[in-house]
Amino acid sequence: MFIVLYVERQNKYNEPLVFRGSSLKEIKTTKRTKEKGKMNKDIITLGLESSCDETSVSVMKNGREVLSNIVSSQIDLHKKFGGVVPEVASRKHVENISYVIDEALEEANVTFEDIDVIGVTYGPGLVGALLVGLSTAKALAYSLNKPLVGVNHIEGHIYANFIEYKDLEPPFVCLIVSGGHTHLVYMKDYGVYEVLGKTRDDAAGEAFDKIARAIGLGYPGGPLIDKLSKKGNKEAIAFPRTYLKNDSLDFSFSGLKSSVLNYLNSSKMKEIPIVEEDVAASFQQAVIDVLVDKTITAAKKCGVDKIVIAGGVAANSGLRELLGEESKKNKFKLMVPPISLCTDNAAMIGCAAYYDYINGHHADMYLNAVPNLKLGEKYNKV
Ligand code: KG4
Ligand code: ZN
Repeated sequence: MFIVLYVERQNKYNEPLVFRGSSLKEIKTTKRTKEKGKMNKDIITLGLESSCDETSVSVMKNGREVLSNIVSSQIDLHKKFGGVVPEVASRKHVENISYVIDEALEEANVTFEDIDVIGVTYGPGLVGALLVGLSTAKALAYSLNKPLVGVNHIEGHIYANFIEYKDLEPPFVCLIVSGGHTHLVYMKDYGVYEVLGKTRDDAAGEAFDKIARAIGLGYPGGPLIDKLSKKGNKEAIAFPRTYLKNDSLDFSFSGLKSSVLNYLNSSKMKEIPIVEEDVAASFQQAVIDVLVDKTITAAKKCGVDKIVIAGGVAANSGLRELLGEESKKNKFKLMVPPISLCTDNAAMIGCAAYYDYINGHHADMYLNAVPNLKLGEKYNKV
């Protein structure tokens, strides 16, 4: 993919800047404008997120204070296709991003001159979508002579908790459940992670979306199943819970998914009426039981006293309730970010970028999109 980005800003010589993707190779490393000793002033971060179907830009003060967090969602655009169409998503990000930046600056009542650091998601995600945010961030960093920080999207989800809980510090165990990821992570310190378990097949959100489609609900399926479940009986259908062998903290949702699909098909063939509310509630409970059980086991194993949750599925009311009960029973403090910070947003990216920056890391202009970036992996860290 070749992105031509025109930045309608001026450089220090008052000349407008035009970048072409290939010529970025010629650009030298962006200089840090701040030195470690000069950190006693407020640090303002511009965060950019475009890894999937949300174009989002934030302005953050000292990492944890949201001055603005604008999210332009493409959900309505993708609904008719029943899921995100990567090429459509990339094009929409290109159309939207400069407007979203302007709005974020305006709402925060700052100008580009006030920005100290530019943080951007560079993976994991859809490559075309990632490249839009990344190219924009590079162009801004270069033209404004500001440091650039590449943020791992999964890491960003964890940092959403630091925005909501101002005193929260690692270590803790985090359950990250989104449309693309299901991870149990021991966060030992800022930027230091041990992945305790992850999904071996579908992500939790993906399972929600697929079952919602099979029941005939819309997209995205998670919130619709959550809503429908409230009217259903969660014990109506005994769907399987997959725990895997040897106390594994990995997850697997494909068996559950097949079981729900078989139930729907065989009910149709036998002309047994399907109570959608009961299917939704029983499916949701099967997912939640495993997520909660493994999260509590992980927290005990790591000897921490705090559990945090993150990602789109962390918005699920059943998960929040059961994990709340089990955490209380086992004397863990549970952090639950507000729904607006669970789903994709740039505030979490700006927050993560701030911590990387104050720890002395930034990226150069060679930073590329890494669609399958793993948690804990760093590319192009200077
Ligand atoms: O974190 P996110 O916005 O994007 C990714 O990084 O994937 O997560 C989106 C996922 C979708 O699969 C959506 O169905 C799911 O989060 N989701 C939910 C709920 N709200 C969003 N799943 C279950 N219950 C919800 N209330
Ligand atoms: Zn996400």
